[in-house]
Amino acid sequence: MSDECFKYKGIQFSSRALTVKDLEFVEKEFQVREDDVFNITYPKSGTIWMMEILSLIYTDGDPTWCKTVPCWNRVPWIEAPATEKQLQKKNCPRLFTSHLPRSHFCKSFSGSSAKIIYTVRNPKDAFVSLYYFAKRSIFFEEPESFDLLLDKYLSGDLPYGSWFDHIKGWMEMMGKENFLLNTYEDLQKDLRGSVKRICKFLGRILDDAALDSVIENASFSNMHKNSMAYNILWADAIMKPGKNPFLRKGISGDWKNHFSVAQCEYFDKVYKEKMCDFYVKFPWDS
Ligand code: A3P
Repeated sequence: MSDECFKYKGIQFSSRALTVKDLEFVEKEFQVREDDVFNITYPKSGTIWMMEILSLIYTDGDPTWCKTVPCWNRVPWIEAPATEKQLQKKNCPRLFTSHLPRSHFCKSFSGSSAKIIYTVRNPKDAFVSLYYFAKRSIFFEEPESFDLLLDKYLSGDLPYGSWFDHIKGWMEMMGKENFLLNTYEDLQKDLRGSVKRICKFLGRILDDAALDSVIENASFSNMHKNSMAYNILWADAIMKPGKNPFLRKGISGDWKNHFSVAQCEYFDKVYKEKMCDFYVKFPWDS
């Protein structure tokens, strides 16, 4: 673990992003409201994409909010230090984002009907995305190599812990009415169908024109043009100089351009071991 990280209840976090106080606040003091909506992901799984989709759904497709307010203020991270102050100002329904594992989530969520949209991405693609992010983000030390970062990823020795534990923890909610499983791959394959499913889950009725606008404004190319979505405003604060690392390629299967045969075999072996007792099949599972 790097000097810039600390552990809280067994999970690693970056001290450049968070403090124990932030995590304790979320876990013990944050009061979930029944109509809160949470966008939850393991890092690099389409978090900002879902922020944009939710923002557009709740404005009936009107992109003004998305184009004038940064995404991290529209759908803020509950674990981010500034959130505590923003909470009081927000109207219902409140939209939040979190990378926290289930074990570290708000105690007040227990028994509530607040909604969770949990987005999962092929962990090989999420890893490649993380590799490029780690090269530029101040939350990470420059990875020594793809191989070494892969070792850390597979052993959960990175901020927010193990991909496997994150997935298994949150997927315990599968089947509950207030839990929606979504995949990055489904968003890619059928954004319209996915948005309709999300609307149904949220009880939002959008007409065709509103849906068209959600699809258009949440497309990779339009989000790329929207500085309120792709975090250019953040760049000075948390990014080393370079191209925007949040919206990099926006495709599925980029791992094939990065993994060697040996790395792929190693990954598949660990994946098989860790997921052998897991009952849900994801789009990337053969
Ligand atoms: P890549 O690095 O593979 O391009 P997160 O928001 O969780 O950090 O995830 C970032 C990943 O989601 C990046 O993947 C980014 O390009 C992708 N992404 C964000 N918005 C997207 C969109 N509208 N369409 C496709 N991919 C998107």
